[in-house]
Amino acid sequence: MTKRDLLSMEDLTRSDVELILDTAESFLPIMHRDIKKVPTLRGRTIVNFFYEASTRTSTSFDLAAKRLSADTIALKKSGSSVEKGESLKDTVLTLTAYSPDIIVIRHPSVGACRLVARQTTASVINAGDGKYQHPTQCLLDLFTLRQTFGRSLEGMRIALVGDIMHSRVARSNIQGFQMMGMQVTVIGPPTLIPRGIESLGVRVEHDLSTLASHDVIYVLRLQRERMAEGANFVSTLREYAAVWGIGKNRLRRGQKVMHPGPINRGVELTAQVADDPDTLILQQVESGLATRMAILYRTIVGYSDAAGEETS
Ligand code: NCD
Repeated sequence: MTKRDLLSMEDLTRSDVELILDTAESFLPIMHRDIKKVPTLRGRTIVNFFYEASTRTSTSFDLAAKRLSADTIALKKSGSSVEKGESLKDTVLTLTAYSPDIIVIRHPSVGACRLVARQTTASVINAGDGKYQHPTQCLLDLFTLRQTFGRSLEGMRIALVGDIMHSRVARSNIQGFQMMGMQVTVIGPPTLIPRGIESLGVRVEHDLSTLASHDVIYVLRLQRERMAEGANFVSTLREYAAVWGIGKNRLRRGQKVMHPGPINRGVELTAQVADDPDTLILQQVESGLATRMAILYRTIVGYSDAAGEETS
């Protein structure tokens, strides 16, 4: 069997996505047992390699692998030989010597995961590369939407609001949302929306006047770490918050708010919205676990229905 990587949403067909979401659903009951572990991936080895900061993605991949009884190796940039100057290639060759089944990797450079995929016999899963792709975030968001609104997302309207320019979540999610038949609008200041993004089939708006017409508002963080020094993407945080911050007053009743985290409270989202139990933000975190279990499982066992019978 040739190895299967997950580097971008383009690696998946709609039926692959549906299979992952169905598999994630089949794993849900495990979360409510006293013993939250199944032997499904016993004897398999999963490396979680994070060159960039992460809370949600790294913990959920780690826990997902453990819940499936796989052996895990967690490596972070700090504390590894990367700090001594070891190259990405040598680090990957070293890790490959342990014959892992999967390497999950997050890296600040666009395309780093593709490079790694060429150098290892393990399947590679992209946990975020620069501002390019974050396919597993997209899948957990689709899972959250499906759990909230039902199996068909066809025709739903979703607005991505904020820093689209520097967001790998936006790039993956536009593809994934459209794949499931959703209508996507991107909203933000012109400096934070990539030129020509209309060619992806999204609507582009530079004010919040149509906000109420969307079923879901997906808020994105200002990615200050990716903004080139000296470049003026926003004037001040206070002004950004006043013009673009999503507060209760800007939301229609029943509208759902999503955010991939980490939140800049008081910047793109008010604390009141962030803490509102009606938002889907913590549900997204919860979905991350089941969805990443499903992704690990499918990557190893295969993307056919027959392969998915024994998940528990
Ligand atoms: C996102 C990321 O790292 O791209 N976060 C995440 O994976 N939960 C979004 C962000 O950092 O703003």
